[in-house]
Amino acid sequence: MARQRTSAGLPRVFHPTYYLRRPRRMLLLFSFFVCTTYFLWDRHNLVVYHEETVEELARENEKLEHKLQELTKVFKEKGETLPKELEFQEHEKRDRKSSEQGYATGLLKRFRPVRRKNPPATDVDKDPVAAERREKIKDAMLHAWTCYEKYAWGMDELLPQSKTGQNQFAGLGATIIDSLDTLYIMGLQKQFEKARDWVAENLDFNKNVETSVFETTIRVLGGLLSAYDLSGEPMFLKKAQQIADRLLPAWETSSGIPYNVINLATGHASNPTWSGGASILADSGTEQVEFIALSQRTGIPKYKEKAEKVIKQLRKVYPSDGLLPYYLYPDSGQLGNHGVVTFGAMGDSFYEYLLKVWIQGNKTEVVKHYREMWEQSMEGMKSLVLKTSDGYTYLAERSYSQISNKMDELACFTPGMLVLGIDGASPQKAEEYLNLAQELAKTCYNMYMSTSTKLAGENYNFHSDGMHVGTSWSIMRPETIESFMYLWRKTGDQKYRDWGWDIFQAFEAQSRIPTGYVGLRDVNSGEKDDKMQSFFLAETLKYLYLLFSPSTVIPLDEWVFNTEAHPVRIVPRMNEPISLEDEVRKERGKPSNPVLQIEQRQRWKGRGKIAN
Ligand SMILES: *[C@@H]1O[C@H](CO)[C@@H](O)[C@H](O)[C@H]1NC(C)=O
Repeated sequence: MARQRTSAGLPRVFHPTYYLRRPRRMLLLFSFFVCTTYFLWDRHNLVVYHEETVEELARENEKLEHKLQELTKVFKEKGETLPKELEFQEHEKRDRKSSEQGYATGLLKRFRPVRRKNPPATDVDKDPVAAERREKIKDAMLHAWTCYEKYAWGMDELLPQSKTGQNQFAGLGATIIDSLDTLYIMGLQKQFEKARDWVAENLDFNKNVETSVFETTIRVLGGLLSAYDLSGEPMFLKKAQQIADRLLPAWETSSGIPYNVINLATGHASNPTWSGGASILADSGTEQVEFIALSQRTGIPKYKEKAEKVIKQLRKVYPSDGLLPYYLYPDSGQLGNHGVVTFGAMGDSFYEYLLKVWIQGNKTEVVKHYREMWEQSMEGMKSLVLKTSDGYTYLAERSYSQISNKMDELACFTPGMLVLGIDGASPQKAEEYLNLAQELAKTCYNMYMSTSTKLAGENYNFHSDGMHVGTSWSIMRPETIESFMYLWRKTGDQKYRDWGWDIFQAFEAQSRIPTGYVGLRDVNSGEKDDKMQSFFLAETLKYLYLLFSPSTVIPLDEWVFNTEAHPVRIVPRMNEPISLEDEVRKERGKPSNPVLQIEQRQRWKGRGKIAN
């Protein structure tokens, strides 16, 4: 009864029977819906398209302004004046005004990420098994995070067995900062917000302790920049700038090669005593991505200038095989020949950053020399590629001219790097890189599977009868999984997901305890240690999560990962003077020729963007 009364009270057009009984009306209604949907969809596309066009035009405009500026200079040098309508002076004045606040030269346009209120919904893989596994990895992150919150909140790292924390990175809450982007990417919004609030309210850089410039850069500066790029919250950038300002004195050396240790309160920089006064290759050559990103986002060039000067100096002393022993001298800028050539500890990420700075700058002419140096090193690396009789390819180390048949798990980032380097290589080189990457990845997987715990030791010795654990502890390092992630995205070969899952299962079986995750003192006995490394949350779990995510989650044509797995946005570098070439020219005593530079740039553009 009640229903009848209600329907009787409504106009008949709202009554289903009005349509059901008359197919033509139904068709009309259906057409109306289709048209409306199409109209809305079309509008939306148009808006997106317009935004892209505007951005494209802005970039084009900036390029033209730069060319004009260079032309003006040439004309002035010749004592001629440019036609009035070109009026570039006005821009120069405007730029100078902004440079008073530190936004120098006007060539550096600030990059601002979009501010987001909530993390975007992360895409789920079509494969239900992958989707389910990804949830398990997210659970692992939640467990690690919750235990850290409970026992070590605000300290650098959790000691799960002792149920307390430890400050090994100057007490900057390393685990919190290292976890920000992982929490964000996994959609753990409540946890992300708590971490963010801690950074805003409690993070204090005024610490009167000596700390590693490298570790602070990759964990703290990298973590803050990534959180900024993902969330768009300006507070993260402000904090990033504060820590970078405290690190800058490390680069005040006569060669520009930094000291590797700094007191954050006093700014006193030095080198560790064990290196005999030398700086370490990886410690000195793994700040470029972060400092360049900071310059791009603040508009202040001094950060990238400091970091890039290191590469310029190293280029002057670059060996012909592109392989650098890991000791450098900050005063002379020379290489110490007693250093070891390695893609493992103390060498590794220097090579990684040569490639990544090129990717970060979107592979333009400004960053082309990074790619060239990287390719030179990859050629040289072939002399270290060896194979055991049972078919495992490995990367040896070299001291003076002596080969040492040892490979660190750390060097297992190499397959991923090679895969990243494929774009931009000749077809022949591309094939070479992919083959080597696949072979090395197999060896790295075997580092894990050949032990009784299925976790890898810190390094391996390679003999004629196969590979054996050297240093036998495991601290839940990410490099092998990182490489699987890149290989999976490149090849789509299911094997890499399966391998990653095997390793995750071993972490669950061996490293997970009710109060967090721990490493192993020995991968064969399985004896546990008492530390949850902050990189386990920053890198290992993030790369695992991405391995089981579709490639639309942090797409590799928009993001580049720093060596602590913090993704920063790719921002094309186009309107900067090609400072390296300027430097070389200055040394040769030739004045730089801006017109020639423009011509060269145009020629290069005509060939397409990839520099071989
Ligand atoms: C990088 O360059 C390519 C080709 O010029 C362009 O399509 C792409 O949008 C650029 N990427 C970014 C992040 O600007």
